[in-house]
Amino acid sequence: MSQSIRADFPILDRQAHGEPLVYLDSAATTQKPQAVIDAVSGYYETMNANVHRAAHALADEATQAFEAAREKVRAFINAPTREQVIFTRGTTESINLVANALSQRLSPGDEILITRLEHHSNIVPWQMLAQRSGATLVACDITDNGDIDLEDFARRLNDKTRVVAINHVSNALGTVNPVETLIGQAHAVGAVVLIDGAQASAHLPLDMVSLDCDFYAFSSHKMFGPTGIGVLYGKRDLLEALPPWQGGGEMIEHVTMEHTTYNVLPYKFEAGTPNISGAVGLGAAVDYLTSIPQADLVAQEDRLVQLAVSELKQMPGVRLVGEPERRLSVISFLVDGAHPNDIGTLMDRQGIAVRTGHHCTMPLMERLGTPGTVRASFSLYNSQDDVDRFVAGIRKAQSFV
Ligand SMILES: Cc1ncc(COP(=O)(O)O)c(C=O)c1O
Repeated sequence: MSQSIRADFPILDRQAHGEPLVYLDSAATTQKPQAVIDAVSGYYETMNANVHRAAHALADEATQAFEAAREKVRAFINAPTREQVIFTRGTTESINLVANALSQRLSPGDEILITRLEHHSNIVPWQMLAQRSGATLVACDITDNGDIDLEDFARRLNDKTRVVAINHVSNALGTVNPVETLIGQAHAVGAVVLIDGAQASAHLPLDMVSLDCDFYAFSSHKMFGPTGIGVLYGKRDLLEALPPWQGGGEMIEHVTMEHTTYNVLPYKFEAGTPNISGAVGLGAAVDYLTSIPQADLVAQEDRLVQLAVSELKQMPGVRLVGEPERRLSVISFLVDGAHPNDIGTLMDRQGIAVRTGHHCTMPLMERLGTPGTVRASFSLYNSQDDVDRFVAGIRKAQSFV
């Protein structure tokens, strides 16, 4: 199956350093299928205009394409209404939007609960909110295997907890977190829950109704769409009640020099000209993703990741970092006697793209006692051959250190 999927991604035909490219950095950003590239260029070739307030044919077509993309995203995540799908620049901006909009709701004595497993995008906005509001940021621990420590989570959750923010899938270790359970526990103490779905949206079926989180954030570029666009889903009553976080065009209903009334959802949270071509590209990415049977997608990726994990476990001098109960797409590891960056460079020379460093999870790396790891992350276009080249690439890198 992966051969035909692979053919949809033109970049995978290129070479790196004279070797056929093995792309194992999809957790950082996925490659784009031709259908997405065509949708973005097609938008500029045939209908480019600013959206809403349409007074001419192009503006009307651009608006329809932009809003059609919103509807595709709504269906993709099973959000009850399109007004609950807010376009942002990406996961980071979605989380910052919520953290800013919640400012007036928190005060000294309140707590914000996150975990040690978070990306900086799901730490720093909450730190800033804590500084603004006087609330306390609390971080629940993880186990040595890289799972959320569920007992510690339950211990730290209490009636002072106002916000809980957790990733669905860890970008550094691939841990799939039991978000359904954690959302239930957080709601039981009256906390609002945000799920950082940056690493989940390309891999897991998403259903906002059954998940029941209050907010869900994700990025288009990690699910085969363009960069610079992402989504914040929110429960309607919360979105209605929260104030806008950025002011400008689009988000207003009426402006006088003294006073402004705000637009309805979702526009209240979409100040300024949006990333129209990005939304159109994201819509095409959703179409692409939904054209592939979910079961095939998961089975193929899982098989490759499990194969790579079992190969790495047998390699002398290679140590896996994190062995979570349920893993998706990502493998972090260290090679004895070598800095992760050196392994990354030696693999790059062989045409193999992996990522090295702290993966924007410095508190997690500190907890695991390492400044960084080598990370390979898989996607639906990877193949058995990629796993073979990856394993051979580590062996060769080892021979140089
Ligand atoms: C788990 C997680 N959260 C948040 C982000 C931030 O995403 P973006 O840079 O697209 O805003 C990333 C990106 O790597 C991520 O992996």
